[in-house]
Parts: sequence; C-alpha cells; structure tokens
Amino acid sequence: MSVHKNIKKVTTHVLFEMKLRGEKISMLTAYDYSMAKIIDQAGIDVILVGDSASNVMAGHETTIPITLEEMIYHASSVVRAVDRALVVVDLPFGSYQGNSKLALSAAIRIMKETGAHAVKLEGGAEIRESVERILSAGIPVLGHLGLTPQSIHKFGTYVVRARDEEEARKLIEDAHLLEEIGCFGLVLEKIPAKLAGTVAEELKIPIIGIGAGHQVDGQVLVIHDMLGITQEFSPRFLRRYHNLSEEIKGAVMNYIKDVKNVSFPNEHEQY
Ligand code: KIV
Repeated sequence: MSVHKNIKKVTTHVLFEMKLRGEKISMLTAYDYSMAKIIDQAGIDVILVGDSASNVMAGHETTIPITLEEMIYHASSVVRAVDRALVVVDLPFGSYQGNSKLALSAAIRIMKETGAHAVKLEGGAEIRESVERILSAGIPVLGHLGLTPQSIHKFGTYVVRARDEEEARKLIEDAHLLEEIGCFGLVLEKIPAKLAGTVAEELKIPIIGIGAGHQVDGQVLVIHDMLGITQEFSPRFLRRYHNLSEEIKGAVMNYIKDVKNVSFPNEHEQY
C-alpha cells in the first residue's frame, strides 16, 4: 500500500519506513524556487539541490567549479518553495575532502543559511572522518558512491563504474561503512544493476539509484534531463518525460512573431 499521499512532511525516518514497506522513493534535483514549488506540489519525496547546478544552471563542463556560496543560494531558494519533500544539498567539491573541521563548517553553513534537511557527500572510506564529524553535529548525511562526478579527473570518463570485481568489492565495503557510521541513505550512480541490487538487499538504509537499475529503493534524475531541457546529455539510463526545450523554443518563436507583427499586446492586454 502506498503511504505516499498522506505524508505531510518527508523525513529521513519516513524514507526508512518506505524501504521497509517496499514503497519506492522518488527523488529529483531542483535549484530554484519555481521549479521546486512545482515538483513539491507534484508529490516528489526528496529534492536534491545537486552540484549538477554547476552544469545545468551555470554551464560548466563539470561539477567542480561550483562554490559553497552558490550552493547556499540555490538551496535557500529551493527550501523557500517546499512544504513536503525532504531537501538534501550537495556539499561542493573542495568543501569536505581535505579537512573534516572545514567539512563540518560547510555543512553547518548549509543547514543554518538554507534551512535544508540533510547534506550529500561523494565517496567512501576516504571521507569517513568528514562524514562522522558532520553526523556528530546531528546533520543527516546521504552518501554517494559509484560514479562520483566530483572525481571526474581521476576517472577520466563518465563510463559505468564498478564493473570489475575489485571496484565492486570496494563499493560494497564503502556502502556498509557509510551505513555503519550513520548515513541515512545512499545514492548509487551508474553501476551495474545487479551490484546495486546486492547493495540494496544487504543494507537497511534506502538506496537511491541513477543509472543503477530498478532493484534499489528509489530513483533520482536531474530535472533538466528528464524534462528534456538539456539536449546534449543522453546516457542510456535517462528517460525523457518531455521535450521542453522544443516547447520553450516554439513558445518563444511565437512570442517574437507576435511582437514583430504587433499582434501582441491586443486591446484586452493593455490598460
Ligand atoms: O548533483 C546531482 O545532481 C547528483 C545526482 C546526479 C545524484 O548528485
């Protein structure tokens, strides 16, 4: 039975219950007030203020350049719009990898200055100290393993991760570690579906997949990709639910035509 409709506010505890009941968790990114309002009203469970804002909002090639200040700007805009969804914010590259005290202060700034409910960090054992310090301050943490775009220059490409045995074993170890130290959930990006299914089965915390098949506890997509606003990004895992870039272009072309031939505004659209 779906508990989806009667939940007033989604919390990390609600997500845990959804996993227990076998109800899939829906998650999408948002970076601004208007979009966040629409997807919250549609009933999305989790909104991720992803550092993919670096790509889709700012036009950078990678997620590396986005700053903590920029993430705070996006996250506070989203939080102002949301009544129901759990809002999770990515800690940007450079704010947590080197020093766990800096990681905690970045997470505290996000929580205090945006009103978000949780933060997300990419990585496993190598960022353990930062994750533990953030958790010790009472800030919920969502882990992220598999393809971790902040490490793109280490990987060299955006191909599927953990295809070989050694990388798969490390991913399973990292997933268990993140659960043990207290993460409330885990994003698995672009890994074999079978491996993702194993992790979801072995762990009690919810596993949210992107390019990780359906045997997980929920799915996340970047809103610009699933609505067809971005056009050049077309991985196999992406399902486009709309072709919004064409619709927007069509509407703008009609507007231009109406302005040029003075059919806008008409006598009812003026004072
Ligand atoms: O930044 C982001 O949008 C993400 C998702 C792809 C999981 O991390």
